[in-house]
Amino acid sequence: MTARLIDGKKIALEIRNQIAIEVKEVVAKGIVPGLAAVLVGDHPASQVYVRNKRKSAREAGMHSELHELDKNASLEEVLKLVDFLNRDSKIHGILVQLPLPKHLDEKKIINAISPEKDVDGLHPLNAGKLMMGEAGFVPCTPLGVMKLLEYMKIEIKGANAVVLGRSHLVGKPVALMLLQKDATVSICHSKTKDLAEIIKKADIVVAAVGKALMVTEEMIKAGAAVIDVGINRLPDGKLVGDVDFEKVSKKAGFITPVPGGVGPMTIAMLLSNTLVSAQNALKREIMS
Ligand code: GUN
Repeated sequence: MTARLIDGKKIALEIRNQIAIEVKEVVAKGIVPGLAAVLVGDHPASQVYVRNKRKSAREAGMHSELHELDKNASLEEVLKLVDFLNRDSKIHGILVQLPLPKHLDEKKIINAISPEKDVDGLHPLNAGKLMMGEAGFVPCTPLGVMKLLEYMKIEIKGANAVVLGRSHLVGKPVALMLLQKDATVSICHSKTKDLAEIIKKADIVVAAVGKALMVTEEMIKAGAAVIDVGINRLPDGKLVGDVDFEKVSKKAGFITPVPGGVGPMTIAMLLSNTLVSAQNALKREIMS
């Protein structure tokens, strides 16, 4: 392996330790940052994600709540819960774990979250602010990707950045954040022609497609920074990213592992956004 390993687990732990210090500071001023997770149904991966998010919130000294609804819960029930959490002064961050059961209108539910408590950065107001380059909550995984680049001192300004995937949760927001930092950004997707040729020109590659091992050594420019957001399970049960780590790590300059790369950063950024929301609440309290 010639690439430098981007140790997301270690970096996330450092960030979480710093967050724990800042949580103590707001607690001393009378506000305990509170995170409410809403889990609808029994999606196995979502249960694991939510459990990990709650555990990390508690470890950082935050108040954490889990609201579990039956997989057949109606839209009205979910909206009523979100409305309750919007008004609850103990809660600074609301996380509605996705995907939701098919019968529920995801947009209506996300739109119902107060933008001030939207620590997932999915509300259209926060998405619009990101597009306008204004301060607001941004989604946790893209924010984690940016923090990894920043931490490793990878030059973004003027870099050719290629984002694979165009989801609302990762691809689009990370592309906007890279653009904001003066990268030249290409977004590739399932209809992109000459994908390999585009990736070959990239100084930074962010893979967020959900297709196991699709990014191969031949596609990567020597020395490029490769950030792998994918989590895929192979038939033998092994967890792998969208990038062929074994081979690409021989050619890239920097690379994230899966697991232990971007994943831990998503949780750290959720805590960071929740802390910011609590700090904002404190400021509003002082002003009033
Ligand atoms: N499901 C997978 N990733 C995420 C995320 O970052 N936030 C939410 N709410 N659901 C998810």
